[in-house]
Amino acid sequence: MAETSISNSPESLAQDACRWLVDQICAKQTDPQGTYSLALSGGSTPKRLYQLLAEIEEAAAVDWKRVLLIWGDERNVPADSPESNYRMVKENLLDKVAIPANSIFAMPEPGGDAADSAILYEQLLRERLGESTPFPSLDCVLLGMGDDVHTASLFPETSALGEQDRWVVANWVEKLDCWRMTLTAPFINSAKNVVFLVAGAGKRDALKTVWDGPFEPLKYPSQLIKPKGKLRFMVDETAVAGLTPPGLS
Ligand code: 6PG
Repeated sequence: MAETSISNSPESLAQDACRWLVDQICAKQTDPQGTYSLALSGGSTPKRLYQLLAEIEEAAAVDWKRVLLIWGDERNVPADSPESNYRMVKENLLDKVAIPANSIFAMPEPGGDAADSAILYEQLLRERLGESTPFPSLDCVLLGMGDDVHTASLFPETSALGEQDRWVVANWVEKLDCWRMTLTAPFINSAKNVVFLVAGAGKRDALKTVWDGPFEPLKYPSQLIKPKGKLRFMVDETAVAGLTPPGLS
């Protein structure tokens, strides 16, 4: 059963999400060997969360040497492109907090051959996370949601939606006329926690489709996200106006 928490604005959503994430990381790190594995979302919604991870007092308790950062998806553009999810995280978090390079696993060689990048990324993740079969269980995957109900780079009617074995794939997105690289749905679903961060009235219909719509995951890919672990929707008031969110907390 999913849980939902509602914040009264995008800013308070970022604050609430940041505090939730810091609590999760610190709880794992009470084990001296505990390393928290976190897949970061791209897009604009999590940007403020990343900024706050570098700013709020509570985050000072995080031992970043024991946080493993990976990316849930990436645009197939160079790492210094304004479109790059890596660049967004770098500007808002990595340039502000001392995180060791071996804790940061961005998708390799973006902007080249997306299929090669996806294969290389999966190899890197297998080396770092271990050859867990069929999938490793990340501590947390952060996700956004598009108004077309896509998540990560799992877009409607695209080939990545059917992938059941790979951890990472390249995905041609016709509507954007571009290649993306993305974690696959079964990889995401193996996580202990999956958190959708969704804000704004423009996402209301997408949330309604996920919560109450017909199950048609090829049209509505966020419906594929049914983790073995906990599913949490962290939303703002405008995104859920008039809706009945699951598991309100
Ligand atoms: C990306 C994200 C994508 C994003 C949604 C929502 O690379 O853009 O992975 O899935 O989370 O498109 O984006 P916003 O947060 O900008 O609305």
